[in-house]
Amino acid sequence: MSEQARRKQEAAEKAVMFIQSGMILGLGSGSTATLAVRRIGELLQAGELRDIVGIPCSTRTEAEAQKWDIPLSTLEVHPVIDLTIDGADEVDPALNLIKGGGGALTREKIVAQASQRQIIIVDDSKLSPQLGTKWAVPVEVIPFGYGSQQAFLESLGAVVTLRQTDSGLPYRTDQGNLILDCNFGTISEPQELANQLKQRTGIVEHGLFIGMADDVLVAGSNGIQHLRRQI
Ligand code: A5P
Repeated sequence: MSEQARRKQEAAEKAVMFIQSGMILGLGSGSTATLAVRRIGELLQAGELRDIVGIPCSTRTEAEAQKWDIPLSTLEVHPVIDLTIDGADEVDPALNLIKGGGGALTREKIVAQASQRQIIIVDDSKLSPQLGTKWAVPVEVIPFGYGSQQAFLESLGAVVTLRQTDSGLPYRTDQGNLILDCNFGTISEPQELANQLKQRTGIVEHGLFIGMADDVLVAGSNGIQHLRRQI
């Protein structure tokens, strides 16, 4: 196992310790969140957790949870989630995030805003002095007219790339939409940018998660650092 994989595992195991039996859980997506899903499955099988209901953030997470026999539900049945454990691509000192490297940003944000608590799990390579230093902002757009959204994003200063699959086809989200990866460089006013993106018809959602993470568990060479959002 690589050092990074070991750190992701450590962060996932630590986060799962915050789960109590009977909770409604948001199940995040990406490689780190998947480790948490597997750990939840193990604890359920061992009888150390009971009566958990999971709300998956992506079809891929749904399939993983099903493999582990984790009972699943929807936000229609359970509109309030007790705790969500998810990963992130970049974390700034205020615990604002860039997410969506795996393409699941819209469902992840719906689940995050329905959650009473969100714990983000990362290895320390994800920490950043300012959002945009390490990662482009994924923007989910409906296919109709997306060239016009691309021009709008460029007018805001982004270098825009249409996300593609390994076989060179346009990547499609779980909703059938496209992703425009937008490199804005370092983002000095993430809330302002988020507001601009929200106002544009055709943009479904963006990967700036501002003020949503309550806790970030960072796995590094000295173990786990627990960062809490200052309110
Ligand atoms: C999925 O859309 C993302 O938001 C992931 O949570 C994020 O990309 C982190 O993924 P890893 O844990 O695989 O780095």
